Amino acid sequence: MNRRRTASREMRARVRDLLHSDGARAHARAMGWARSVRVSKGVVFVAINDGSCLDSLQVVVPADQPAFEIARRLTTGASLVAEGALVASPGQQQQWELHATEIKTIGEADSSYPLQNKRHSLEFLRSIAHLRPRTNTFGAVFRVRNALSYAIHRFFQERNFQWIHTPIISGCDCEGAGEMFRVTTLDIEELVGKCRPGEVDCSKDFFGRRTGLTVSGQLEAELLALALSDVYTFGPTFRAENSNTSRHVAEFWMVEPEIAFADLADDISLAEDFLRSVTLEVMNRCEDDLAFFAKRVEKRVPERLRLLTESSYEVMTYREAVAALQRSGESFEYPVHFGADLQAEHERYLTEKLTAGPLFVTDYPKNIKAFYMRLNDDDETVAATDLLVPQVGEIIGGSQREERLDVLEARIAEQGLERDDYWWYLDVRRYGTVPHAGFGLGFDRLLMYITGLQNIRDVIPFPRTPGHADF
Ligand code: 4AD
Ligand code: MG
Repeated sequence: MNRRRTASREMRARVRDLLHSDGARAHARAMGWARSVRVSKGVVFVAINDGSCLDSLQVVVPADQPAFEIARRLTTGASLVAEGALVASPGQQQQWELHATEIKTIGEADSSYPLQNKRHSLEFLRSIAHLRPRTNTFGAVFRVRNALSYAIHRFFQERNFQWIHTPIISGCDCEGAGEMFRVTTLDIEELVGKCRPGEVDCSKDFFGRRTGLTVSGQLEAELLALALSDVYTFGPTFRAENSNTSRHVAEFWMVEPEIAFADLADDISLAEDFLRSVTLEVMNRCEDDLAFFAKRVEKRVPERLRLLTESSYEVMTYREAVAALQRSGESFEYPVHFGADLQAEHERYLTEKLTAGPLFVTDYPKNIKAFYMRLNDDDETVAATDLLVPQVGEIIGGSQREERLDVLEARIAEQGLERDDYWWYLDVRRYGTVPHAGFGLGFDRLLMYITGLQNIRDVIPFPRTPGHADF
């Protein structure tokens, strides 16, 4: 390949580096997209942004410069390269600005460009998800998303957890909620009308069995934890739940640590250390983006971050939570009684009014939780925990796992599941079983909490929800 073809990029400085420059520079080259172009008193001002940070670089082109004509014809959305001197800016907005001697338009954008320099609603921006990364809000979201991912890996790597890759195509429904997307190479057009439910012969399918997209990597993570001790997954999971809420999507990222020789208390300590640590790292790395969210999106962002990093996380049993809700005097839409799942309104009361901070609710009734959770001595509840946070609700679901073979077999039967489907899961209880525990963090839910964005569709580049799989 002709290496000279990349030379223009080699010489480029990122806008972030220029804005944080230690001093003036006789020569600098920036590349990016014009956020705004304005002409004032014979001078063109172009704000260029390359996504490296929230702020744009002000490019100044006076009328006596050869670049003036090109600069004057630039429009919002166009891509360009600007070269010149980086000099101290007389303006209050920025420390440095670029006095351009040369400007080249790389790609034009005409007046139909939908992101003209004004505020757009989040709903509108969702309809142009291919362009919204070029706005302040979404640039900030995706930088925070990146920083949080990195912090998560760092947290576990520094503690000797092994990152494991669990399958995306799976034969079992970990949560037992019947929310799996089917994966098949059978001819659906042909089968429709021919077969009634349950009549399809899955042995003729690609994998010779019924398969779907995984709802959680937990069961496989347990197998690896029972060999490597401390492991975690971090990847996409899928749920075909037809719920159109602001906190559910069909495809989301989950972080699932699994630890051997551990009980529910160890699990809760790990979750707390983990959230404190990753949130602190994001606060350190994304100061400007978080300040932007606090100013433009949700003024409680600093308070929310403080709650995760500084306050103590309360722990309360499900029984205690139910009693507190019953005593509250609030009129809830959904009734509260032992055996009922906590609804969003209940979670909000608990975390916003009762504890005013993060809350681990533990020991849920076994009938509303998955088969793998360890049965408590009362025979009625399981060693489970959900972490609830103000405004967003549940961000973590976890448990100590049932390590006793006989109890696990009984639970599988009780929930009407096929014992044979879980032969391998049962085997690790037969050979060298140990107490172990883990949890799943809804990565996108944590991002909602950190950024203050109220709809999960706005923290995911291209969200998948019922009726929506564009882009
Ligand atoms: O509570 P869940 O269903 O737990 C599990 O899947 C366990 N196997 C985890 C484990 O113990 N390893 O899901 C975990 C978290 C929830 O607390 C929530 O934050 C998120 O995943 N979540 C969703 N996020 C977005 N859209 C959805 N449809 C979600 N369903 C769950
Ligand atoms: Mg849950």
